[in-house]
Amino acid sequence: MSNVPEYAILKVGGREIKLPVVEGTEGEKAIDIAGLRKETGYVTLDPSFMNTAACFSKITFVDGEQGILRYRGIPIEELVKLGSFVKVAYLLVNGNLPTPEQSRKFSQLLNVNSLLHEDMRHFFDHFPQGAHPMHILSTMINALAAFYPNVDLRSMTEDIDTSTARLISIVRTMAAVAYKKSIGEPIVYPRHDLKYCANFLNMMFDSPVAPYSVRPEAERVLNILFILHADHEQNCSTTAIRTVGSAQVNLYATISAGMSALSGPLHGGANQEVIEMLKMIEADGNVKKYINMAKDKNSPFRLMGFGHRVYKTYDPRAAIIKKECHAFLQAMDIQDSLLEVAWEVEKAALEDEYFITRNLYPNVDFYTGILYRALGIPEDMFTVMFALARLPGWIAHWKEMIGGNTKIVRPRQIYIGKTLDQI
Ligand code: SDX
Repeated sequence: MSNVPEYAILKVGGREIKLPVVEGTEGEKAIDIAGLRKETGYVTLDPSFMNTAACFSKITFVDGEQGILRYRGIPIEELVKLGSFVKVAYLLVNGNLPTPEQSRKFSQLLNVNSLLHEDMRHFFDHFPQGAHPMHILSTMINALAAFYPNVDLRSMTEDIDTSTARLISIVRTMAAVAYKKSIGEPIVYPRHDLKYCANFLNMMFDSPVAPYSVRPEAERVLNILFILHADHEQNCSTTAIRTVGSAQVNLYATISAGMSALSGPLHGGANQEVIEMLKMIEADGNVKKYINMAKDKNSPFRLMGFGHRVYKTYDPRAAIIKKECHAFLQAMDIQDSLLEVAWEVEKAALEDEYFITRNLYPNVDFYTGILYRALGIPEDMFTVMFALARLPGWIAHWKEMIGGNTKIVRPRQIYIGKTLDQI
């Protein structure tokens, strides 16, 4: 970081103004336009905010050119070796990896907050068969505010640690309940003697007639998947969290908004779309045809799991997940022909001019579905898995936003509609 203040000189409307340049700890620079409209009457225009930083943040650093991802300064390659999603969730929300005492307290909070309110259980009886679990979850999370009303920002009588633990823990239970309901099986309660990921797998797959034992390899790979999805700076759903949260909406309704944004096929919904795409390519047997379709501007088809707004190189998360796919399927002695199809599609795309010149590489969603299938997770739960993992990231950004002097998010616009003399 340089000490000499830097400015941008803007000549507009017959005036020349100096705009301060701010620099982040990793050297990212931005022109601070907070005073622009007041000084010049002009605003800036940047649809989808492709060139606009919405805030300062200390939570996650992404370098899209180098393929770097760090949570609170720690590279994800180090964090996956830690192998504990709960510890990484604590790091994101609190800014440090937990001490043994902090770990004990957080695990205790997760445990005591893992049970779904018995009255909430009956909500699940009224969702139509086949309702997508993301819609169920976003509804149920919103309903939490009715059952735990003391997270309203103005009162905030409940400390954030409890609200955080409740969200991370209960939403995991809700996801498993939604799955059990969808297959007509009795729900399985969380157990105090199982850790976070093992508890989830047990709630998903244990049954009175077919007792399930959690394989350590499955618990390990689920921790890695959750760690890799836990945060990703100002992505679409996190921006929804910061926007809705800025109106001082309670935490649960804010998280519910993030859920809805994440369910989109261009965002968290892509992991489910990737598997559907790989199945289609496998059935057709012609990879080249789909590569060409993805390049054809007249075709709505896109190569799902490829491309990224920030990464213009291989998504570091995809690299780790691709490696884990091979190792996990081998360890569990599972064959999945879709993995070979995925390898073929990746090879063909990365050798193709269209993808090379646009810096389109596999993103976090390209291989995750292979692992979720190997874990026995049904496809319509893939985005739910992404959401469970992203909860600590969303909470961390909400906490950072309410902790600062954030004003309500209210961008400007350029009106191009009818004028008075045109009506
Ligand atoms: C996630 O933001 C985050 O951090 C998100 C995320 C997180 O952790 O929160 O990383 C998670 O959402 C990952 C992305 C999952 N979505 C998909 O895999 C859907 C497929 N990908 C694309 O739809 C697209 O790449 C996006 C949405 C991810 C990014 O789109 P951008 O940044 O708006 O890029 P663009 O549409 O402007 O594309 C630039 C060019 C265009 O071609 P030209 O106009 O230059 O000729 O690349 C082309 C696009 O048509 N392109 C693709 C493509 N992605 C971009 N062409 C074919 N297949 C694709 N997948």
